Amino acid sequence: MNVGDERSISYWMETAPAIDAPPLPSNASCDVIVIGSGIAGLSTAYELSRFGRSVIVIDRGAVGRGMTARTTAHLSTELDDFYSELIRVRGEDEARLFHDSQVAAVNRVETICRDEGIDADFARVDGFLFPAEEKHRADLEEEYRACRSLGIDVEWDDCAPIPGLDTGRALRFPDQGRFHPTRYLAGLARAIEASGGRLHGDTAYISHRETGEGVEIMTESGPVIRAGAAVFATNSPVNDRVAIHSKQVPSRTYAIAGRVAKGSVPDALVWDTHEAYHYVRLQPLDDTEDLLIVGGEDHRSGELNDMGERFGRLEQWTRERYPDFGSTQYRWSGQVMEPIDFMPFSGRNHGSSNIYVHTGDSGMGITNGVAGSLTILPLIIGEDSRYAPLFDPGRKAASIPAATEFVKGQAGAVRNFSEYLRPGDVKSADDLAPGEGAVVREGMRKIAACKSEDGTIVRRSAVCTHLGCLVHWNSFEKCWDCPCHGSQFAPDGEVLNGPAVTALGSAD
Ligand code: FES
Repeated sequence: MNVGDERSISYWMETAPAIDAPPLPSNASCDVIVIGSGIAGLSTAYELSRFGRSVIVIDRGAVGRGMTARTTAHLSTELDDFYSELIRVRGEDEARLFHDSQVAAVNRVETICRDEGIDADFARVDGFLFPAEEKHRADLEEEYRACRSLGIDVEWDDCAPIPGLDTGRALRFPDQGRFHPTRYLAGLARAIEASGGRLHGDTAYISHRETGEGVEIMTESGPVIRAGAAVFATNSPVNDRVAIHSKQVPSRTYAIAGRVAKGSVPDALVWDTHEAYHYVRLQPLDDTEDLLIVGGEDHRSGELNDMGERFGRLEQWTRERYPDFGSTQYRWSGQVMEPIDFMPFSGRNHGSSNIYVHTGDSGMGITNGVAGSLTILPLIIGEDSRYAPLFDPGRKAASIPAATEFVKGQAGAVRNFSEYLRPGDVKSADDLAPGEGAVVREGMRKIAACKSEDGTIVRRSAVCTHLGCLVHWNSFEKCWDCPCHGSQFAPDGEVLNGPAVTALGSAD
């Protein structure tokens, strides 16, 4: 199982072929084992297989149905946290190099689509950033100056292309992109297999061991994989207990999609300046209609359970600005790992010789995932990696603002541990409505209890098996979310997302 087994089905999940990837049947060996089959994992496996490396990709659930299938797949080179902020924490040179990595990522996706004949609706479009409030205009001015100082191609437009709103002046970034992420992953999977690579779904990592020659990966069902190197690309890394998790926090984000008449909404990326910013794109459907996809309403994972209100606000925001938006046909959510200094962690795992990791994508999961593959590939094949110093997983906070973000992020974990002393969310599991879950206090213990539609109550320990925070019920996805580092569990306690690798414990 993975997050593809949560309740909501994204447009991407419904409209791409399932990738055929049977469980790993027996022990295996290869040059590089990749754990995780999203954009970062499959892009890395693809690049390595092109260089003649034998690769095996494993995923705890269906291949290509992890967090990448829960994004909205913007291919934007504008940093969602703003280059003005990145310059503040990392300086101009690193900000410029980061932008270069994002441009390289979009170019790489375009090239791979063309070279491999992947029909993933890739298109170059403009991106528009507009102020959500009058007082944000100064932020846009500052971002414009920051981008120009880095040499980024940006211009002022009179207005962002939103049919129902005069946004006033907006920043326009040419040559951004959009594509269909799961069709792209299916194309990568085909290319990897054509080069001799192997893909195995329903093959969960449980532990690893670095040896003199490389890495051994132990899987839940028994087979062991011996490889020269291992790449962990699992949204929230499963190979590391603490270090990297102290530098990022998990955030849930939400998306809706509905039909609009073709031509009624310009084909562009659009986003605003709310702290939990709204982001908009089109996906072509047929000759008469497009799908309008709108995301936003982010919050720290596991800390709030008001998804009905969040989707309501997202729909209202959309209808006010896109009057042609029809009924909402899709609703889904995903998880974003927010790093301490706005940039992903990609490269050799701190303290390891042959283990590599990619995480911390912020709201730029697709471009950062591809940039990660371009960072890790040269490290493994023994060439210079241009972006490796920038994305070093072992890096520390470089400035006071970044350190302050870090402290704020970790406050959630501290808060969570204080919940051990509080009463449960409900008095008794009997009080639950069918299909709902809640944490119940039983003596000194906290129990994750949920009631299935037929009234059966499932009870598991509410203690996350990663580092012991208490999980919280997610009534939209019908799963347990851990607010500390992003683990997610099915109603029966099975792991859906790391860093936890073992199911919630027994309640008895
Ligand atoms: Fe780390 Fe739950 S994800 S304690």
